[in-house]
Order: sequence, then C-alpha cells, then structure tokens
Amino acid sequence: MPSKIFIFDTTLRDGEQSAGTRLGARKKLEIARQLCRLKVDVIEAGFPISSPEDFEAVKLISKEIKGPVICGLSRAIAADIDECGKALAKAKRARIHTGIGVSDVHIAGKFSSDKYGKSMAKKKVKLIKMSRDAVKRARTYTDDVEFYAEDSGRADRDYLFEIIQAVIEAGATVVNIPDTTGYTVPEKFGTLIKDICTKVPNVDKAIISVHCHNDLGLAAANTLAGIKNGARQIEGTINGIGERAGNAAIEEVVMAVKTRRDYFGLKTDIVTREFYRTSRMVSDLLGMVVPPNKAVVGKNAFAHSSGIHVDGVLKKRETYEIMRPEDVGVPKSRVVLTARTGRHGLRHRLEKLGHTLSAGELEKVYKRFLVVADKKQEVFDEDLAAIVEDETMKVPETFSMEYIHAITGNRTVPTATVRLKKKDGELSQEAACGDGPVDAVYKAIGKITKIPVKVVSYELRAVTGGRKALGEVVVQVKYKTKQIVGRGVSTDVIEASAKAYLNAINKLVI
Ligand code: KIV
Ligand code: ZN
Repeated sequence: MPSKIFIFDTTLRDGEQSAGTRLGARKKLEIARQLCRLKVDVIEAGFPISSPEDFEAVKLISKEIKGPVICGLSRAIAADIDECGKALAKAKRARIHTGIGVSDVHIAGKFSSDKYGKSMAKKKVKLIKMSRDAVKRARTYTDDVEFYAEDSGRADRDYLFEIIQAVIEAGATVVNIPDTTGYTVPEKFGTLIKDICTKVPNVDKAIISVHCHNDLGLAAANTLAGIKNGARQIEGTINGIGERAGNAAIEEVVMAVKTRRDYFGLKTDIVTREFYRTSRMVSDLLGMVVPPNKAVVGKNAFAHSSGIHVDGVLKKRETYEIMRPEDVGVPKSRVVLTARTGRHGLRHRLEKLGHTLSAGELEKVYKRFLVVADKKQEVFDEDLAAIVEDETMKVPETFSMEYIHAITGNRTVPTATVRLKKKDGELSQEAACGDGPVDAVYKAIGKITKIPVKVVSYELRAVTGGRKALGEVVVQVKYKTKQIVGRGVSTDVIEASAKAYLNAINKLVI
C-alpha cells in the first residue's frame, strides 16, 4: 500500500459550520492561502448550494488558489451537484464531494417519506440508486468525485459495503467513511476500515477516506486507527473545530504520523512548521479561542513549569518533549515591533504571518498599529492578527462608537453612557445601569439600537501578555433564530466589549 496519506482539510466547511458565524469569501480566501502554504492536498471550501455567500467563496477560492484540489460539498441531489459544479468551474483541480446518510437512523429520519420506499429495505435500494446517480452526475463536471457514506460509524456493515461498491462502480474515486456522530471507538473503526479494504471487491479503484467527529474525544484516535488499517486520506480541521465537539484536528493526526513514523510507517506532505501560524489565523478569523492545553498548537503545548520538568528539559530537551516546537512553527523568540517600525517592516512581518494586504489595507493597519504601539511600546504577532482582522475585514458599520464612559466600583452601581453614530450621521446618546460595567454598556447600546439581542456567551482574553495587553472580546448574541459572533479588540476591555457587541449588531443588521 502507498505510504502517503492525503490530507483533506474541511476547516472552511465542517469547521465553519461550528462557529455560529459565516466567514465570508474574503476571510475564507485568506485561510485557503494559508492552507496552501501548509500544503494540504484538498481544501473543502464550502457547500455552494447552502447560501449565495458560500457559493461565492467556493468560486473565489477555485479561481485564486492553485496547488491543492478545491472541493465543494453537495447532497446526492441534482441541484446541489450542479451548483457545486458551477462554483468549482474555475478550479484547476476540482472535486465534488457528494453523499447520503447510510445508517438506519439516518435513513429512517431523513428519508421517512414513502417516496423513498415504504419499507427500510426498499428505501435502502432507492438510496443506492440515488447515490449512483449523484456520482454519475458529479462525474460530468470532474473526474475527481468523492462520495461520503454519512454516519458510517453506526451503519449496517453489509449495506455500507454494498453502497461503497455501487458508488465506486458509478465512478467515485474517493470514498469517505465518516463517523458523523463520533460514536465509534478506535478498535471497531479500525476493523471496519480493514474490512472495507479487504471485502469490497472493487475497493482498489478508490481511495478510502476517514472523517471522524470528536463527540467522545476520540476523533484523532479513530482517524489514526483508520489509516493504520488501510485508509489513505484523512479529513479534519485546523484546531479540531467542527460540528458539535468538532472534527479530528489535522495538526494532531499529522504530528502523530510524523512523530510515530516507527509505528505508522506513513507520511504526509504537510509543511508542519506552518501549523502554529495556521492555527492562529483560524482562531482569529473565526473568533474561536484555542485552549492553552490544546495538543500541538496550544499556548502551553511546549511550556514547562514544574521544577523537575524545567530542569529536565534544560539538561536534555527530549526528557519531556517528543516534538520540537520549531517543527510546528511555535515562535521561539519574541518579535519586537515598536512605533519606530516603519511600513516596510510591518508589511514584512504581516507577510510572515500569512497576511497579504493591499496598499490601502496596509495603510489602515499601519495607522492602527501606531496607536497600539504608542500605548503598549511593543506590539506582538497576536496583536497584529487582531488589528488586521479589525481593520481589513470590517463589516459596514450601521452603528459606530463615538463615545463610551463606564463607572464601576465595589460601592457604586455600574453605570455607562454610550454615544453611537448611525449610518446617516445622526448621533444618539443613552445611559444605563447594569450588573457590571459591560452589562451597563450593553444595555445603553440596546437602548439606542433598539435591537433586542440576547448575549449567549461572552469571552475575554488577553491577546498578548503584560499589563498593557490588547484585550479581545468574543461575544455571541442571539436574535430570534440567528446566532451571530462579534469580536472587538482594544487595550481597554470595556471598549473591546462594546466593540464586540456592536460588531455583532452590525453583522445582524446586514
Ligand atoms: O460528518 C459528516 O458526515 C460530514 C459529511 C457531510 C462528510 O461532514
Ligand atoms: Zn463532518
């Protein structure tokens, strides 16, 4: 069997589904460029029929990104496949990823209508026909067609084998075996993949792929069991983001294959030193914070604190480290950017961080950089990422902040006064009391915007260390059935909170 494992990245599709927000074409392109530097084999750029915005994102990435295969998702429905085909038209190497639910639970739930057959047996026959037709239709757009047998982890094995054989006959070149619900365990999943690779008669005509979810925290382990037993493509996301508990984290799977080459005997083409940068970018643009203890890319992944560990590492690094931080791109030295750093130095640093900006964008970022540098003396890479997002990926401001004043204390009722400017230039000012200064600010903003949103979650983190760190607030708000994420950055946490809230409201208004 070949020893290369293909890496299929679905950060922009499955990953984005999890964030409670849409990335939009511009941010998706930025991440796709970085995935290209990471050298993933396939980028699943979106689900074109799901929204015009996703269609545009897949189209833009298809046009701009050269190198990896660009893939679009579809259901086994003609209209989905046609939309996918259109969105991918400009891709040098295009793949359509189509498929259907194959477990009894999925069939009974999604195909309950009699039009799919009156009994489970009849529905299963119908679904095989739909799958074949979908693959054949997809093949009219590209020779590279991947079929996903959704919820394979809970499917009846014989039926799964039958459908795999049928779609390969119809022209599928990759067959994806997703553990959609994160139900399986490594030993069982490994056996399933081994049996597929030995019992499905025409399996040699396709690559078997594994796509594992993390509901039981087993996504990476199941993925590794899959490749140990014959799968040659793995699907995952950066930072393990994705539906519910997420997908297998690509950085974990790839580093396991690399670090334990002795055990797996496999390789990937991934440029692993791009991992840290990719992780930061995905975290920043989606507003999803990476836990400090996250394997490979977490802030503490290479930090040693206890005396015994520090002593051991200083004497011989391998005592407590199985990977070298530089192999995954964890920066070893601090980068000193100050107000004296000119545009040229800033551009150079931004390019190193993966941000390609137009002259106009660079100017905006530079102006903001100077303001931050004056307040902080020293600006770190994480500050820059936050500034870039704030300045270049801005949503149009229906409401912008003119003035904010909050009073709080242990014997004071937290009170805030906020003045906002509306798009038409009108200024409105309101004051409110709250359970804390942030609550008071949000109430005052609510009085002006008159949009009754509910705060679902609020997260504050220091983008960089030290007392003058930039504070980043990520707030998730709900309005009717919509959940929107807003982000705000400032050296003042109350201002960052207000910016995040306004950012969410401005997105909502659009
Ligand atoms: O988890 C899953 O089954 C999926 C498919 C759409 C591939 O994401
Ligand atoms: Zn999935």
